[in-house]
Amino acid sequence: VVLVVDFGAQYAQLIARRVREARVYSEIVPHTMPVAEMLAKKPKAIILSGGPSSVYADEAPHVGRELFDAGIPVLGICYGFQAMALALGGTVANTGLREYGRTPLSVTRSGSTLFEGTPADQPVWMSHGDACSEAPEGFTVTATTERAPVAAFENDEKHLYGVQYHPEVMHSTHGQQVLEHFLYRGAGLEPSWTTQSVVEESVEAIREQVGTKRAICGLSGGVDSAVAAALVQKAVGSQLTCVYVDHGLMRKGESEQVEKDFVAATGVQLKVVDAERQFLDALEGVSDPEQKRKIIGREFIRVFEKAASEIVAEAGAHGESVEFLVQGTLYPDVVESGGGTGTANIKSHHNVGGLPEDLQFRLIEPLRRLFKDEVRMVGQELGLPEEIVQRQPFPGPGLGIRIVGAVTKERLDLLREADAIAREELSAAGLDREIWQCPVVLLADVRSVGVQGDGRTYGHPVVLRPVSSEDAMTADWSRLPYDVLAKISTRITNEVDEVNRVVLDVTSKPPGTIEWE
Ligand code: XMP
Repeated sequence: VVLVVDFGAQYAQLIARRVREARVYSEIVPHTMPVAEMLAKKPKAIILSGGPSSVYADEAPHVGRELFDAGIPVLGICYGFQAMALALGGTVANTGLREYGRTPLSVTRSGSTLFEGTPADQPVWMSHGDACSEAPEGFTVTATTERAPVAAFENDEKHLYGVQYHPEVMHSTHGQQVLEHFLYRGAGLEPSWTTQSVVEESVEAIREQVGTKRAICGLSGGVDSAVAAALVQKAVGSQLTCVYVDHGLMRKGESEQVEKDFVAATGVQLKVVDAERQFLDALEGVSDPEQKRKIIGREFIRVFEKAASEIVAEAGAHGESVEFLVQGTLYPDVVESGGGTGTANIKSHHNVGGLPEDLQFRLIEPLRRLFKDEVRMVGQELGLPEEIVQRQPFPGPGLGIRIVGAVTKERLDLLREADAIAREELSAAGLDREIWQCPVVLLADVRSVGVQGDGRTYGHPVVLRPVSSEDAMTADWSRLPYDVLAKISTRITNEVDEVNRVVLDVTSKPPGTIEWE
C-alpha cells in the first residue's frame, strides 16, 4: 500500500485516485495519525499531500523526522513538500511572493528520477504563499519557477522526493508521469493493482468473512448495490439472496430492469418484496428531508428483517438466521466520515438513508476501498451488462428525496413521468456519459400560474439538476445544449399533467448538494 497523508486540503483524494490510476493501491490516512502507526501499515511509499496552511501558521501540522528516517520512499507535495524541507533542515521562507494557478516550471536536471523524459519547460499548477529557498543537505534541486527557486528536489540515495506544485491536477500536464516516476522509479513499485486483482482479493475476503453463513443484499437498481451483490454472489453463490424492495419510490422501468437484466447477468437468487403501501403509509405527511431519510432507512430494515426470516423458512433451515447484510458503501463515504476502519460510520448509513442502531445484521461492504469509477470497472470485470455498469447513480431513498414536500402516490407518479422523459431525451441526445446524473425534482409545495390551450393552469414546477462530477464529492452543473433542454421542457409540460413549468438548477456543489434533500 501507498499511504497518502492528508493535510486537510481537497487534494488527498485526488492523489489517491491518481496513484491507483498508476495501478498501485493507495489509502488515505489523516496527518494526525502517529508516524509509528503509519509505519505499522508497512507502506511501500508515502505521499504527503498539500494542505491549506502555511508551515509557519500556529497550528500548522508538522511531520516528524522519523518518517524520513524509516527507509521508506517519500514524495512531498506542496504543503507536504515544505513540511519535508523543514523537517530535514532546509529553509522555507514567507517570501510574500505567491503563485496561484498555471505556472511555467523549468526542469533543471533533465535526467532526474521524477522528471526524466518530460520537457524542460512544462506548465504546472501552483498554490502556495511560502517558498522553499534552500533544499536540505543531500538534496539536489531539480526544477524551479520564477517565484520558487526550489520547486522540486530529490535525494535518490534516500528515496526522498518533493515538488512544490500539484502533479495530481490535470493542469500539470506531466503530473501523472511525475507521480508514476516516483512510484515506479523512486519507490520501485510495480503497476500490479488491477481490476482482476481487486476482484480476486475481494472474493477471497468475502469467503473468509461469510464462511458458511447466509447473507442478503438490498438491490436499489444503482451501480453500487449491483456490483456489491455480484461480488458476494461470486464469492458465496447461493448463500446470498438479493432482496429488491419495491417501495414505490423507484423510477419508471426500474423494477423490471433489476428483475430482468441483473438476474440474467448474475444468476443471483432474487426475492422481490412489494412494500409500496408500507413505505407510503410511513411517509404520509412527512416533508422534512432528514425525517424522510430516517423513515425510509427504518422501513428498509424492517423489510430486510422480515425477508430474512422468510428466506430461512423457505430454505427449510430452521434455527438458522441470515447473518450478513451487503452494502455498497464506497471509499469516499469512508473517507468523508473520518476514514475509520470500523464498520459503523455515518455515510454507510447514508446508503439506505439511516440504519437503526439495533441492526441485527453484520455488514459486508466489499466496495469500501473503491472509488466509483473503480466500481464500474469491477462490474465490467464481473460481466455485468453495460446498462447496469454505466448507469447514473440513483440514491437509495429514491424519488422520496426528490419531492420537496410530502410524498404521495400521485406526486410520485407525476415525478416518474417527468423523470422518464428527461432520461429518454438525454439518452437520445447521447449525453449519458457526459453527465454524472440528472435528478428531476418535483416542487410539490410550490404552484405557479400558467396558460395552456386557452385556459389558466395552476401547477407545479419541476427542476432539472444535470451535474458533471468525478466522484460526487464536488460537482458542477452541466451546460446542456439549449435544444435538448427545450425538448425536455416542452415534452414534460405537454405530457405530464399538473406540471406547467420546468426550471434549471445552475448551482455547483458546493454550495448545493446534488440532490435537493
Ligand atoms: P449529494 O446530494 O449528497 O449526493 O450531493 C451525492 C451522491 O450521492 C447520492 N445520494 C445517495 N445515495 N443513498 C445513496 O445510495 C442516499 O441516501 C443518498 N443521498 C444522495 C446522490 O444521488 C449523488 O450521486
